[in-house]
Amino acid sequence: MPCNCCEITDNAFSESEARSELKNYRRRGPANQTNLILKAIRSLGMKNAKLLDIGGGIGVIHHELLEDVADQATHVDASSAYLKEAKEEAARRGHGERVRFIHADFTDVASDLPKADVVTLDRVVCCYPDFHKLLQAAAEHSRRALAFTYPRETWYLRFGFRILNFFQNLRRDPFRVFLHPVAEMDALLNQEGFEKVSFQRLFVWEMALYRRTTI
Ligand SMILES: C[S@@+](CC[C@H](N)C(=O)[O-])C[C@H]1O[C@@H](n2cnc3c(N)ncnc32)[C@H](O)[C@@H]1O
Repeated sequence: MPCNCCEITDNAFSESEARSELKNYRRRGPANQTNLILKAIRSLGMKNAKLLDIGGGIGVIHHELLEDVADQATHVDASSAYLKEAKEEAARRGHGERVRFIHADFTDVASDLPKADVVTLDRVVCCYPDFHKLLQAAAEHSRRALAFTYPRETWYLRFGFRILNFFQNLRRDPFRVFLHPVAEMDALLNQEGFEKVSFQRLFVWEMALYRRTTI
């Protein structure tokens, strides 16, 4: 689906990058921050859940959770290169019929999509300028839980992101990375009826698991 976000993202994530991520995943399994999301979701003890993975990349979260927690998944992604690899891996695992793949900016198509039990966003908010719009739409689509990873608000990441964006600007590439305020993301999710139930920290990434407290 053509949209400005998809165009920018399609240029940012190349087919060769996506292919090499899939190769790494096949060799080494999920990345550390993704493992934090998987462990957090599994701690809820759900079965036959409906999963919505926003910006799922090569699809690691649904490849894994369709084994024990979820029976169906929707993967919405602004990158066609990532979606291509995710589809191929889903088919290889025999999950092809259980995953719906959508090429779009989630905020553009959210109103057409059904709710899910679990919504995940692994390293996605940092690629999107408007975290209010993205997280609010994500929260509205979750019946029970939402887990996401985001970069920590530290001096070294502030500095790193500034340098990265400086070079993106020099290259005239409109793709930017964002270090969104964690307290504001937390407040937004609380307002949407969620409470944080667990939280883990790595050097770059933080993972937070939220559960819905109100319907
Ligand atoms: C850094 S990659 C992370 C991919 C994967 N979740 C992982 O952790 O390996 C960011 C992903 O978010 C997607 N993305 C960013 N904003 C999006 C949006 N508004 N709607 C859908 N996908 C989005 C990008 O296309 C890309 O696949």
